[in-house]
Order: sequence, then structure tokens, then C-alpha cells
Amino acid sequence: MEKRHAVVTATGSYFPPKVISNSFFEGYLDTTDEWIKTRTGISERHYVEKGVASSDLALEASKILLKKRGIGPEEIDAIVFGTVTPDMMYPSSACLLQDKLGAKNAYGFDVSAGCCGFVFSYTTGVMLVESGRYDKVLVIGADVCTSFLDMNDRNTCVLFGDGAGAVLLEPAGPDEGMLDTIQHVDGSGGKYLYMAGGGSLNPTSAETVAKNLHTVHQEGREVFKHAVTKMADVAVEIVEKNGFSLEDVDLFVPHQANIRIIESVAKRMKLPREKVMININKFGNTTAATIPSCLDQAVESGRLKKGDLVVIASFGAGFTWGSALIRW
Ligand SMILES: CC(C)(COP(=O)(O)OP(=O)(O)OC[C@H]1O[C@@H](n2cnc3c(N)ncnc32)[C@H](O)[C@@H]1OP(=O)(O)O)[C@@H](O)C(=O)NCCC(=O)NCCS
Repeated sequence: MEKRHAVVTATGSYFPPKVISNSFFEGYLDTTDEWIKTRTGISERHYVEKGVASSDLALEASKILLKKRGIGPEEIDAIVFGTVTPDMMYPSSACLLQDKLGAKNAYGFDVSAGCCGFVFSYTTGVMLVESGRYDKVLVIGADVCTSFLDMNDRNTCVLFGDGAGAVLLEPAGPDEGMLDTIQHVDGSGGKYLYMAGGGSLNPTSAETVAKNLHTVHQEGREVFKHAVTKMADVAVEIVEKNGFSLEDVDLFVPHQANIRIIESVAKRMKLPREKVMININKFGNTTAATIPSCLDQAVESGRLKKGDLVVIASFGAGFTWGSALIRW
């Protein structure tokens, strides 16, 4: 019997309405619109209002997706929710979303993989469908990055935004859907990008808050260096390993952390700009939401069509990195 594949049958994305332009930071930090644009490619990003969590953003993206697919929430069998900003320690955001959406027949769980939250969740979702046990798997990438930002740290606060993306996976034939995936972890890179507070090592206390352990710590240059080489290598590897050439790739959808990372990766892959999906200018780095929101926008704008050969690739905290080769 031929192996069952999993294909994306619908997409959705959602960004909260509040738009924060670079001039917001100029008002109180030693930074400029020019620096942010040229060093990161970001012009604006979206922020939630107080009280809006990752599952709320995911809910909106999921509702759009279900409407496009024309099915009800009770048809979903499983929810795989990639996030580093779950609503709370537990229950998982997958459980909270399951309730809010009314996906009463779905089980689900969160995937914590830094900026690889979507790539790891998507590949996990694919495997659930490939196993033959589940027919409709909702994969989410959603983050409220503002929940971990130190708004006085110019090295990090200008980079991130809030948002959500969702894809629905369903069974497909052997030539469609995810053709292959490569995923990696190197835990020794953990020291370059982390949020140390609020977990079992440093439970929240007046002391952890005073030490700012509840916000992101990043060594930007080190992360940048690894992101470029590892993302490019894993994207090239998956294409060549499967007997394709880079010219066969119709669309490359990289994680959106910095336009200079994206451009360097595209250069190493010798891909022209029109084959690279970019939305960082309007949304910043939304962690797990970057790739699914790019996929949704690519579908909606007609840049991504059935039959296209797509490569997604990401790099993030952990270090984590990975790619997937998809026949859309
Ligand atoms: C963070 C990042 C944008 C910094 O850009 P960079 O060109 O590498 O800048 P550097 O870190 O070399 O810093 C250069 C200078 O700019 C300053 N700088 C940093 N942020 C600034 C800002 N918002 N405005 C003005 N200056 C800033 C630094 O303080 C530094 O000043 P110094 O030389 O006086 O110390 C970049 O390293 C990056 O994008 N890294 C990867 C981040 C990432 O991908 N994170 C998520 C993982 S998925």
C-alpha cells in the first residue's frame, strides 16, 4: 500500500488591529526608523491589546480557515499548536483553543520549538495524518511576542510582533503534500536566546521580575550567524536530497526574523527575490506565526498555487532549525 500523504487544504491568518510603526520607538528609545528599517527590514508590527492571548489570535485565524474550507469545528480531529507564548503554563493553548473554537472532537497539544514552532508543529501534524489515525489536523503557529518583550531593550523590542497563522492538513495521494522534512536541535545554542523566568528553574517571584528574567535575552549577532548558515543549509539539503534542483522551487517561505537573514539565505540558495515570500516589513518577527501567515498571504495573493513546489525553513531558540519540502 502506498504511503498516505498530508496536504494543506485551507489556510488562515490573523493579526491584531493595533499597528505600531517604528516612530513609536523613536519617541522614547535611542533608535531611528532608518536603523530599524535598514538593519531588520521592519517598518511596522501589530500588537495585541491587554488581555488578548495566543489562543485568541489562533481562534480568529482558525475561524477564517474553517470558513474557507467550508467545514465546522467539530470535524477537526487534532490541534497541534506551535507557540513560545502559551496563554498560561497549563492548560495548553491547544486545549484553550479547542474549547473556544468548539472543536469538541479534537485532542491537541502545544509544541515549544522557538521560531521553529510552526515547522515542528506542521511536520508533527503531517505525521498524524500519515499515520492513518487522523483525517483533519489543525496546525497553528501563534505568538503574543509582546508578552516577553522588554520595551526598554532596543536590541529586541523593535524586532517582534503579535500574530497567528493556521493550516488544515488532510489525507492526500503520494505525489502531493509534504514530500520530506529535515529537523534539528542543538541545545548548546540555548544560551544565546532564551527567557529564563517563570518556569520550574526560576519560578516567578519578586526577585525574578526585578532581574528581568521574564523577558527575552538574545545575543543577536550570534543568533544571526547561525540562522543564515543553518537555514540555508537545511533548505538546500532537502531540495537536493529529493532529486530536485533549486530552480525547481516555486516559492521559498523562510521564517521572518530579519530581512538581512532572509536575503543572505536566498543568496546562498541562489534564489531570485520573486521566489522568496517576505512579510517581515509589515509584521516583524511573530515567532511561530511567520511561516503560516506567509503561506496564507501567498495563497490569497495568488503567489502560491496547487502543484507548486514549496520549501519552508526556520531557525530559532534552542537552537532549533528545520525545513519541509511540499508539493502544494
Ligand atoms: C538584533 C539584530 C537586528 C542586531 O543587528 P546587528 O546589525 O547585528 O547589530 P549589532 O548587534 O551588531 O549591533 C550594532 C549596534 O547597533 C545597536 N543597536 C541595536 N539595536 C538597535 C536599535 N534598535 N536602534 C539603534 N541601534 C541599535 C547595538 O547596540 C550596537 O551598538 P554598539 O555597537 O554601540 O554596541 C540582528 O543581530 C539580528 O537580527 N539578529 C538575529 C535576531 C533573531 O533572528 N532573533 C530571533 C531568532 S529566530
